[in-house]
Amino acid sequence: MDNYNEKLDLKIPEHVAVILDGNGRWAKKKHMPRTYGHMQGSKVVEKMLYEVDDIGVKYFTVYAFSTENWKRSDDEVKTLMGILRTYLKDCVKKSMKNNVRCRAIGRKDELSDDIIDAINNLEEETKNNTGLTFTIAINYGGRDEITRAVRKLSCEVARGNLKPEDITEDMISANLDTNYMPDPDLLIRTSGEQRLSNYLPWQLAYTEFYFTDVYWPDFNREELLKAIYKYNKRERRFGGVKED
Ligand code: IPE
Ligand code: IPE
Ligand code: MG
Repeated sequence: MDNYNEKLDLKIPEHVAVILDGNGRWAKKKHMPRTYGHMQGSKVVEKMLYEVDDIGVKYFTVYAFSTENWKRSDDEVKTLMGILRTYLKDCVKKSMKNNVRCRAIGRKDELSDDIIDAINNLEEETKNNTGLTFTIAINYGGRDEITRAVRKLSCEVARGNLKPEDITEDMISANLDTNYMPDPDLLIRTSGEQRLSNYLPWQLAYTEFYFTDVYWPDFNREELLKAIYKYNKRERRFGGVKED
């Protein structure tokens, strides 16, 4: 679904999803530790929140930590969790000021207790805000999310509440962590990689993809607008045929 921004003369995707990538390489280029890149990257997330809100995006969903990112060194995982902890806490005040509703998706139960508390607190405090919906994917993996949904539906089948042939796509969507949001219209991945890395595989079925070589810490309003211009040139057909 698109909104129109009269000032920019552009249709604006209702939902933008981002795979923020390249923090480590950005830092390396500057002869700095990877952790410096992550710190910078988290500041850019905050800036982009205001930018997407300003141009009229309604849902903004960012990939902060994947179920595969535990493979990184203990030091890096610790730093990333530390940044998230601070971010989640600071986010409450800023979101209240800007009317942003915050949510987290992913395997919350595997996170440390204080991070779970910070997520629950952020979600609870901001739940009645009516502006931008900001979702952070933490310990998120699309296959894990689908597996959990399949388990929930199988339980209903095992209890005799549901017949396998009655399972619909909508029921699967409703059992995913993302059940409160529309599917993304635009996916942006920075740093030159062109893969999903287990991000929202179900939800991105008809999303337009935009890849850029820019590392996430260098991403800004200008780069966002480039992605939106490209999106405006795409013709979304959803399997149909273009009407002349
Ligand atoms: C993205 O930057 C942030 C996370 C995955 C948490 P990376 O840390 O993947 O940076 P590169 O890809 O190694 O440069
Ligand atoms: C994807 O980036 C995960 C996040 C951005 C949180 P990665 O850097 O972990 O992905 P790969 O390893 O390049 O596929
Ligand atoms: Mg990476």
